[in-house]
Amino acid sequence: MKGNSVIYSLFLSTSLFLTNCEKTNEPVKNNKIENLLSQMTLDEKIGQLNQYSIGAELTGPGAKEGINKIKYDHLKNGKVGSVLNLLGAKNGRETQKFVVEESRLGIPLITSYDVIHGYKTMFPIPLGESASWDLELMENTAAVAAKEAAAAGVMWTFAPMLDISRDPRWGRVMEGAGEDTYLGTEIGKARIRGFQGNDLSDVATIAACAKHFAGYGFSEGGRDYNNVYLGKHQLLNTILPPFKAAAETGVATFMNAFNDIDGVPSTANEYLLKDLLKEEWAYDGAVVSDWGSIAELVPHGVAKDSAEAAQMAITAGSDIDMEGYTYIRNLKQLVESGAINESLIDDAVRRVLKLKEDLGLLDDPYKYFDEDREKEVLLNPTHLALSREAGRKSIVLLKNEGDLLPLKAKNIAVIGPLAKDKDSPIGNWRAQGEKGSAISLYEGLTEALPDVNFSYAQGCKLSIGANDFAHEVEIENSDRSGFKEAVEVAKKSELVIMNLGEPAYMSGEARSRSEIGLPGLQLELLKEVYKVNKNIVLVLMNGRPLTLQWEAENIPAILEAWHLGSMAGHAIADVLTGKYNPSGKLPMTFPRSVGQIPTYYNHKMTGRPSTEPGMVFYSHNMDIENSPQYPFGFGLSYSTFEYSPVSLSKNEMNMGEEITVSIHVKNTSNVDGEEVVQLYIRDVVGSITRPVKELKGFKKLMIKAGESVQIDFEIGEEDLAFYRKDFTFGTEPGDFEVFVGTNSTDVQTATFKLN
Ligand code: GLC
Repeated sequence: MKGNSVIYSLFLSTSLFLTNCEKTNEPVKNNKIENLLSQMTLDEKIGQLNQYSIGAELTGPGAKEGINKIKYDHLKNGKVGSVLNLLGAKNGRETQKFVVEESRLGIPLITSYDVIHGYKTMFPIPLGESASWDLELMENTAAVAAKEAAAAGVMWTFAPMLDISRDPRWGRVMEGAGEDTYLGTEIGKARIRGFQGNDLSDVATIAACAKHFAGYGFSEGGRDYNNVYLGKHQLLNTILPPFKAAAETGVATFMNAFNDIDGVPSTANEYLLKDLLKEEWAYDGAVVSDWGSIAELVPHGVAKDSAEAAQMAITAGSDIDMEGYTYIRNLKQLVESGAINESLIDDAVRRVLKLKEDLGLLDDPYKYFDEDREKEVLLNPTHLALSREAGRKSIVLLKNEGDLLPLKAKNIAVIGPLAKDKDSPIGNWRAQGEKGSAISLYEGLTEALPDVNFSYAQGCKLSIGANDFAHEVEIENSDRSGFKEAVEVAKKSELVIMNLGEPAYMSGEARSRSEIGLPGLQLELLKEVYKVNKNIVLVLMNGRPLTLQWEAENIPAILEAWHLGSMAGHAIADVLTGKYNPSGKLPMTFPRSVGQIPTYYNHKMTGRPSTEPGMVFYSHNMDIENSPQYPFGFGLSYSTFEYSPVSLSKNEMNMGEEITVSIHVKNTSNVDGEEVVQLYIRDVVGSITRPVKELKGFKKLMIKAGESVQIDFEIGEEDLAFYRKDFTFGTEPGDFEVFVGTNSTDVQTATFKLN
């Protein structure tokens, strides 16, 4: 019996079964999956746990040759459960038809892809978008990314990345929400809601994936894929909360991390995957390995061969083997030899089949493959408008002196290797974002200010080698031939807009840097221009915090514009012209020097904090102050905001009660502006050392010119809870400090006691 009729006959029998149950009012137990499982051979079960990266294998170049021959045969024989990188409604339909009609049970494939900050319409890189502190916006951009991806036949994205990181040398900070657990948790939930919507079987939504579980953002030295050394309190209090919240939010899948934690690779970490995720958190979704991470248990040195790697991973709770060829080659023999129990396989298969059922695939394997919908949805003008809005809101104004902004000058030089670059703003994880398709800064400016006399000079090249996913980026370090022209145009202009930063592929996976200043000759170029014209607005396009000591000291206006996606140039022009008043706040600390790393706002006191000037024996560097260049939560506006003292509804709180924290914020300028009012707390004495501050709430709101508004926050017991010395979760009575302000440093304070 061909696959498709088996599936539908099962569905029929199940629906008949359901009807009978309804008659007896017995609790309805959906046996569609159990019925399917009971039909499957061991080979077919293992096939569901096997994931390949495929292109248009069946019809494309190289089909049926080499590794593609293996993939072709496995697809035909029901030995593949999901694929990644198969794109397009037409390709998807053809491949799905092949699998459903050729394999014995016709179990449909899930297609997956890295839809990280857009599918075809590109949004700001996640770190940039996180600077908006606008959860609704981030939910909306994820929803649009899902809609475009689903229209192109993608059912599952490997996002959001929930890795907290305090190390900007690590290239993947671009992919996450920065250094803070609370902000990262809220943003992760928003993105999951956006991707998944209310119904995974809707063809405008896709399954999300909480990754990388766990600890990847703490790779030692910021070097990608490196070892991680973490204590259990740090794991529980800093790293895991975004993942726990993702599970509670109903994220459809999890993905393992490449790294080990204190010697145990996350891919085979029973404590993480089994004890915590699947038992304590009662998670019933599927866990996919990262690319080849099961096979990598061998180079990690914890598995002697791929058979042992497969045994460790399936026992720990890794359900799907992404491009590792480890499960497909070893699990059958491990079951038949008695090394593992088939029930482990069954549990993993149930999770995969549940995902397929939730996606609606068991009812209609072809529902995501509609070429007309694909044409209609991708790059829809409303999507591009949203990209421009997200870009504007992600920009952080770091400095604005000399009254240069908003722009007033009528004779402006635009200088720098990124100013006409239409590709770098697309960012690293660009899915199907077309190369060179972004609006450049120069395009955005000239369109926004048709009456201004613009001149342009590149000044220097930035990336001279292959600037793409598969190659190292080569940076220009010696050709200064463009400096002369740049200095000339600067001399003749009222104001200079310098557009400097990193090319797209200098951040992202496998793009760690040992120095994080402006790469190449850019700072030299900036200094040459500065010699002839000090009215400089520096617009940064980068995928990580940079060290900007000289720039911060000397340049009057600085804008952090990340890699903002398809509409980057328009978004930046909207801010530079004042059409949009910048409202972004840094989701990650900018250090003064790479030697300060890790430096972050929610650090511990240590036993020797600096208490007075002139001290020597306290925790510091002799050659640089402890404070960062720009702190977490920092961002200026064209408006100015004044904070009243903070008041509390009471100064003592009993367990189970709440305290209201109130503050007035006045816009003392003549420009309406949005402000992100931030709430932090400090647990003064705990059973373990506690951070000097922890973000526990924020409100982004528009405050009209001259207006004063009252903002209230409620602090409840759950806001004060943490994993204590004995690793139980809860609160501890004692003194607490409350901080409310415009960033993590400039705050109003108050205290209360928890009884
Ligand atoms: C990569 C990344 C992971 C991604 C996966 C599939 O190596 O680590 O985040 O989802 O492979 O592309």
